Amino acid sequence: MTAFTPVLPELTAGYLRTGLHQVKGWLNVSTAVYLSGVEAAQRGAGVSGDVAEIGIHHGKSFLCLALDLPADQRAVAIDVFDDQAANLDQSGRGDRDIFEQNLATYGAGDNVDIVQSSSLDLEQAGFVAAGRRFRIFSIDGGHTDQITVNDLRIAERTVVDHGLVVLDDVLNRHWLGVITGLFSYLGDGGSLVPAVLVPNKLILATSTDQAKHCRAMFAEQFPDGLEKADVPLAGHQIDVYGDRPWLVRGEDGRSEPVTGHELMATITAARLAELEQQLRSTRAELDTTHRQLDRTRRQLDATRQQLRTAAQPLYRRAARRLPWLARPVRPVLRRVRAVVRRSR
Ligand SMILES: C[S@@+](CC[C@H](N)C(=O)[O-])C[C@H]1O[C@@H](n2cnc3c(N)ncnc32)[C@H](O)[C@@H]1O
Repeated sequence: MTAFTPVLPELTAGYLRTGLHQVKGWLNVSTAVYLSGVEAAQRGAGVSGDVAEIGIHHGKSFLCLALDLPADQRAVAIDVFDDQAANLDQSGRGDRDIFEQNLATYGAGDNVDIVQSSSLDLEQAGFVAAGRRFRIFSIDGGHTDQITVNDLRIAERTVVDHGLVVLDDVLNRHWLGVITGLFSYLGDGGSLVPAVLVPNKLILATSTDQAKHCRAMFAEQFPDGLEKADVPLAGHQIDVYGDRPWLVRGEDGRSEPVTGHELMATITAARLAELEQQLRSTRAELDTTHRQLDRTRRQLDATRQQLRTAAQPLYRRAARRLPWLARPVRPVLRRVRAVVRRSR
């Protein structure tokens, strides 16, 4: 079933439709749709604040948050970039030049702030002391348990009341530091509350009430995406949203798919296989009908032949014995023969 995104602003819709598959990185297409949709919905609802991401690589997910921002909002990109020695678990490899090219290509304004730093050094650098100011905080930097706890704590202390924190790779079996860190953070009294799981990312809110609010917002924005509601997680209830073949609706009134979305390709292939199967069985039915038709024709020919053979001696005998009777019968027989010939 095709799913429709909420109506998205021009640059965001364009990036999802044709830009997303060009930018290298790690981001499920449906998750890109959820991130962009949440950003736009939150802004539309008048939640003020900036957006931030730790762990940029080339900006694939950052661009979902940073396009079409009003002039008074900032998008903050945090990555070790060239200082890859600080990338302790080699998760991705930030490249500032490529990132900046992508910002320019997809139309991010000059309200992007780039912070080249390990997230482990942010607190010392006064990042937290600057106060609560983010409405969306995406965490996708180092994937060890210590870094995950560190980044969740930074997000917790810098998001606004209606803000959301997005934690990447929470169920990625190659990066189990993330889930270990999440449970340490929650177990140690972290105040963020899990609300929604999208493919590969967990979205947390600032309180139980805000988590409910977030779930309601998802239900409203993505009615086609809900897979399972009220799933228990660490003492909370979350809603799980799935992978869908999205049609991206833009303010231009068009609904277009995401270029190269594999899920869409799979569905098309499945539909093609279904049609091929239908074609094969229709052909087989047609062959059977042809064979039946041939058999009926042959039976008809044989019956005609039998009739002719049976009629000839009768006619001859009648002609011999009753010539006066045979004479008027002759034209009738001729007409019968002509009809039989025409019907072949
Ligand atoms: C998995 S990649 C990010 C993927 C990206 N969000 C995307 O959409 O493709 C992880 C990034 O985090 C950066 N990184 C790793 N450890 C970090 C740390 N401690 N602080 C900040 N950035 C870090 C890496 O340089 C890399 O660019």
